[in-house]
Amino acid sequence: MWKTIGIAAVLVIVFYLIANKSFNSAADSNPGNEAAEVRIQPVAKFELAKAAPAAAAGPKDGATVYNSICGACHNTGAAGAPKAGDKAAWAPRIAQGKDALYKSAIGGKGAMPPKGGAADLSDDEIKGAVDYLVGQAK
Ligand code: HEC
Repeated sequence: MWKTIGIAAVLVIVFYLIANKSFNSAADSNPGNEAAEVRIQPVAKFELAKAAPAAAAGPKDGATVYNSICGACHNTGAAGAPKAGDKAAWAPRIAQGKDALYKSAIGGKGAMPPKGGAADLSDDEIKGAVDYLVGQAK
């Protein structure tokens, strides 16, 4: 008997908590709710941080492009990419001349997509990254 009442009491409390919680989150979706604004701040800041480099305009230098795009394959040799700094792998490629390397990086070659997949980068930004990458193997 007491056991049943105890269980009933727990259920009442649990239901109360659930009801109360959904009441709170309904309040949070109110645009004027300060607590909700504080809680979404980190997300808003992150979006700003992401937008900042693009907003800071100007072309990205070779090292920046390399580290954000090309290194995904060329640091590890993923997809059969010639590794940065691997002189033996790079010598025959470098022998083709810079223009051929630029062309491969911009237009894609084998498993490498055009511009390493970063189609929004300018040709000059890609060339800078090629120079940086080739510079590692010298
Ligand atoms: C998805 C992986 C991947 C990414 C990302 C990538 N590459 Fe490559 N890259 C490769 C592979 C694989 C090869 C070898 C292609 C072949 O010879 O078939 C290669 C080859 C090259 C070559 C030699 C081309 C030649 O003609 O011999 C250059 C230069 C190069 N990549 C530059 C870059 C630059 C610059 C970036 C960044 C903008 C980049 N890669 C991003 C996979 C990648």
